[in-house]
Amino acid sequence: TRENKIEYRSPIICILGHVDTGKTSLLDKIRNTNVQGGEARGITQQIGASFIPIEAIKEQTKSFAEKVKMDFKLPGLLLIDTPGHESFNNLRSRGSGLCDVAVLVVDIMHGLEAQTIESINLLRMRNTPFIVALNKVDRIYEWKTCVNTNFVDAYKQQSKPAIQEFDSKVKETIAALAGQELNSELWWRNKDYKKVVSLVPTSAQTGEGIADLMLVVIQVMQKLMLEKVIYQEKLQCTLLEVKVIEGLGCTIDVILVNGRLKEGDKIVVSGFNGPIETNIRSIITPPPLTESRVKSQFIQHQEIKAAMGVKIVASGLEKAVPGTSLYVVDEDDDINAIKAEAIKE
Ligand code: GTP
Ligand code: NA
Ligand code: MG
Repeated sequence: TRENKIEYRSPIICILGHVDTGKTSLLDKIRNTNVQGGEARGITQQIGASFIPIEAIKEQTKSFAEKVKMDFKLPGLLLIDTPGHESFNNLRSRGSGLCDVAVLVVDIMHGLEAQTIESINLLRMRNTPFIVALNKVDRIYEWKTCVNTNFVDAYKQQSKPAIQEFDSKVKETIAALAGQELNSELWWRNKDYKKVVSLVPTSAQTGEGIADLMLVVIQVMQKLMLEKVIYQEKLQCTLLEVKVIEGLGCTIDVILVNGRLKEGDKIVVSGFNGPIETNIRSIITPPPLTESRVKSQFIQHQEIKAAMGVKIVASGLEKAVPGTSLYVVDEDDDINAIKAEAIKE
């Protein structure tokens, strides 16, 4: 069929939410569960982003995916963690601006909090579809732990008091979201992904609902945003952070949304004192999570293709402006036009 010829890139999924709701723990849970299966097809944590290959997701959600007849069309997910502390509004804004779909993490025991509302407004501003992870379900009174079980099956194992508290917490959250003019529903009851936000109960501690979370993210992507993640050769690359790394000097962490980067490429980025022109010395990604983060273990790439989170080593990047675009200058490009474009941002 025609569809088989279309190449999709990995969607960029931003994890947003109030401080300490469990965003990073959810990512850790997703990565750890896959690391267990061996590192060859395991997870590599990218800079500012974690790439989860589709094979790992299939493995992790196996029995459940068969049950819901999941059809995987995407090569993987590029998950971007953001901080929930109120002072990091700029990072949440940058993350939500980049992503195709977001996961808004809510502590089921706390309901909506200040940065939950802030995140909702960021997502709404950009029309970004999102799902809500109702995390820390293991904190529900008398919750019976069902390690790494899909939520629907875990729910069936619960006692009456646990079900009662869970149901009432869900009801409160649905009412609070309605107060933000959002319709929401537990994911397995949601018949309209376009108009109704899916709620996915999870525990980053004990693993209930993690499979559901991944599958619902993929479902939402495939149902609402598939056109948007058709791979494009035209470069789309955003600078996330400027970091000095011992032994490497000044580096930039970027999210390569579309296109590719090569060692030696001439690049232009916006700088605080005007456009910066430099050449990519190396493109690196860190080793899998299980290994330590010593620099000698960085993996080098001669070329890398979207979507991916990578670190670029090049000279003169000290004054690069986070949040702006990176451009590659080809031989017949007008570098002055590109520089003018770069500093417009
Ligand atoms: P910030 O990045 O600072 O906004 O926090 P975060 O949202 O990334 O939360 P983090 O993963 O740091 O978790 C905060 C605390 O909640 C930690 O002590 C975690 O162990 C705990 N925690 C996270 N998820 C769960 C969960 O599902 N159940 C329980 N019981 N504790 C959790
Ligand atoms: Na935290
Ligand atoms: Mg965190």
